[in-house]
Amino acid sequence: MTRVFSGVKPTGHLTLGNYLGAMRRWAEVDQHQADALFCVVDLHALTVDHDPARVRRLSRQAATLLLAAGLDPELCTVFVQSHVDEHARLSYLLECVASDGEMRRMIQYKEKAPREQARGGSVRLSLLTYPVLMAADILAYGTHEVPVGDDQTQHVELARDLAVRFNHRYGHTFVVPKATPPKVAARVMNLQDPTAKMGKSDDSGPGIVYLLDEPDVVRKKVMRAVTDSGREVVYDREGRPGVANLLEILAACQGGNPEALSGAYDSYGALKKDTAEAVVEVLRPVQERHRELCADPAYVERVLRRGAEKAREMARPMVDAAYRAIGLLPA
Ligand code: AMP
Ligand code: TRP
Repeated sequence: MTRVFSGVKPTGHLTLGNYLGAMRRWAEVDQHQADALFCVVDLHALTVDHDPARVRRLSRQAATLLLAAGLDPELCTVFVQSHVDEHARLSYLLECVASDGEMRRMIQYKEKAPREQARGGSVRLSLLTYPVLMAADILAYGTHEVPVGDDQTQHVELARDLAVRFNHRYGHTFVVPKATPPKVAARVMNLQDPTAKMGKSDDSGPGIVYLLDEPDVVRKKVMRAVTDSGREVVYDREGRPGVANLLEILAACQGGNPEALSGAYDSYGALKKDTAEAVVEVLRPVQERHRELCADPAYVERVLRRGAEKAREMARPMVDAAYRAIGLLPA
């Protein structure tokens, strides 16, 4: 059976981008068709300046939202990364397989490192080595497929390279994984700046739809989305990124494809109105389930504890095998 692994970082409130690019497929497709694990990757949240209480709060919220989005602990494994030591154990071995140059070429590092410096802080070494930990997350479970948004494909490529290199040097140990981005909404853009990804750790609220935004807040954000000069509704990602983003969001929410949908509109206003309502409808059940789950925090905790136990059992033999293959004495 296909093994699927994916994760979400508790660095901010989860967004419509997280949902359409990743989480929705995890719930609607992956957990039904594959042996799937979904992880709140809290260790990754420590790679940039962080507040411990906030990371704790956001980790709990992310786990609750994964369940609210429809992940069913009877069908898949939901857990928190730091509860399973195997991730950090394997990460060190993979640091001995990855190269310094490879890390410095990662797009996200090149984008984020100067940002951290501009904020007056130093760049954490873990920001540089982050993709290795992500590779460990993936390889520890013998993962075949990694359902992620577009922004993560370079990181999954690295995991592939490291798996191939390790297997070549030390004998076949790891499955070589591949990224599986969604057909539409692989990169939902910021509504106020459609040339930038809608990212949860960015500070600019008005261009980001959060999963827990009230319906009226969602409507306001979509209605105020920056569109392009011109009036015709055409699907052109390069030339008309604002309108293209709305069409993709609409297509992802109600089905259909962005190009075909563009023909149904003769004004930006009408497109925005329908997109706003489609988003509100997609978020409604998630928000309802989230409210219910918040009333029962002990349930969420139980799910995470059980999830970590299952994950540990799966990862342990793989990581032990890697320790032996690379030349470490069995304990
Ligand atoms: P992150 O928020 O970086 O932890 O991402 C969690 C998952 O959501 C990853 O699979 C990302 O690729 C996906 N994702 C995050 N932001 C977006 C976006 N704006 N559009 C599409 N997918 C996204
Ligand atoms: N780096 C991913 C992101 O920012 C999160 C992540 C960490 C992940 N480990 C992973 C995603 C393993 C898929 C598989 O979105």
